[in-house]
Amino acid sequence: MQSSLEVAIIGAGYVGLSTAVALALAGHRVRVVEQQTQKLEVLQQGQVPFFEPDLEAAILLCADNLCFTAQMQKAVPTADIIILAVSTPPSPAHGADLRQVFAALHQLAVFLPDRQQVLVVKSTVPVGTHLEIQTLMQQLAPDANLAIASNPEFLRQGRALRDAVFPDRIVIGASETWAFARLQQLYAPIMAGIVQVPENLEIHRPKHAIPILEVSAASAELAKYAANAFLAMKISFMNEIANVCDSTGADIGDIKSTLQLDTRIGADFLNAGLGYGGSCFPKDTKALSQLALRSGYEFRLLKAVIEVNNEQKYRALNKLEHVLHGLRDKQIAILGLSFKPDTADTRESIGVDLIEELLARGAMVKAHDPMLAQLQLPEFSQGVTLCSDLANCLESCDAAILVTEWRCYQEANWALLGQRMSQRIMFDGRNTLSLKAMQEADFVYIGIGRN
Ligand code: UDX
Repeated sequence: MQSSLEVAIIGAGYVGLSTAVALALAGHRVRVVEQQTQKLEVLQQGQVPFFEPDLEAAILLCADNLCFTAQMQKAVPTADIIILAVSTPPSPAHGADLRQVFAALHQLAVFLPDRQQVLVVKSTVPVGTHLEIQTLMQQLAPDANLAIASNPEFLRQGRALRDAVFPDRIVIGASETWAFARLQQLYAPIMAGIVQVPENLEIHRPKHAIPILEVSAASAELAKYAANAFLAMKISFMNEIANVCDSTGADIGDIKSTLQLDTRIGADFLNAGLGYGGSCFPKDTKALSQLALRSGYEFRLLKAVIEVNNEQKYRALNKLEHVLHGLRDKQIAILGLSFKPDTADTRESIGVDLIEELLARGAMVKAHDPMLAQLQLPEFSQGVTLCSDLANCLESCDAAILVTEWRCYQEANWALLGQRMSQRIMFDGRNTLSLKAMQEADFVYIGIGRN
């Protein structure tokens, strides 16, 4: 029988809530502090305030171990472990804006007891932040007996719970041995793979124990940026190879098949497309590049990764502009506005960027997303029609650009939908549609490096 711990989690975003649910499923008693009233009310009713598969079903399973409050004093004094999971949005000057981190620390400091507690930083923060936190906590709570640990999260939106209960690895950066031992106790059920999960996640349960790495706090902080930067590099690399395919007649699918069978390269994150978006890769690659520069090192490879990503979507538009003999007064359908499927998150959405660029080039835009009602979108200027129905969206369009590979686009009847369009031109920005089906539906098909 594993012994359970008292855990306080500060912040109920994707990371905080998924971690809270995973630890409650693991048998710990978890109190989540969320200060946004609307969000808190939804959570207290057992619901999830954003779209994320599996979380609501999992909350039902662990409701006895999980509660939500707005007050630090209801969670912090009794906690064995306090996990900081507030957001660190992009900041032009320092890569990551740490205001929410420091505000939370000021608030919780007054409730720290004098017994041993571990303060875990899960939010993605620049290397060295643990030292700043240490100094601040010594000033704010000199009598507290606090060990600061860095424990980055690698979960993906759209499969956040699955990644939290079945992670590839757990990374702990802590200088005190007792703090590492306590975090090992926290993660013991996850490492042993014995956490109860909603039934549909069972097939993903790993057959091996999950490794835990004990590293320095600086290494843990940097490891998170390195992992994201490496994955972003794989994507930009494949996008560049796809661009070479376009000019040489080679096919990106063939290249991917060849690369992914090389165990040294690995099978994942080799999909060429319009580039990466979302709340992490764009922010973290920029933050790491700035962090390196501040430490006196120019990270040239990462700079190129970012540049390739920024250009990729516009290269696609240039290609379409060429096929359509100009974009002015053309009606273009944008398919997909969330930054990837299975999420309603539009942060750094390629679809939104493309709409703005199409408008700038004189086109009219109709945009569709299966989760349209739940999306947060900017105020577009005139010339944009948002559609919740795919057929309406395609009506009278000169071309469609598939931006987000939602399943509904793969399953759509393109022969029928094509009849609605003025011209049957499909720019598949994620290489996700069947070439055969598009040919049979009489479409001019353009992919990314797909020949
Ligand atoms: C990412 C990391 O994967 C995760 O470990 C980290 O904790 C947070 O950032 P997330 O942003 O949720 O997760 O999504 P992810 O699935 O990694 O995709 C990020 C972007 O890369 C998306 O825009 C996606 O479309 C793009 N992508 C991904 C590609 O263009 N090609 C690929 O092969 C994979």
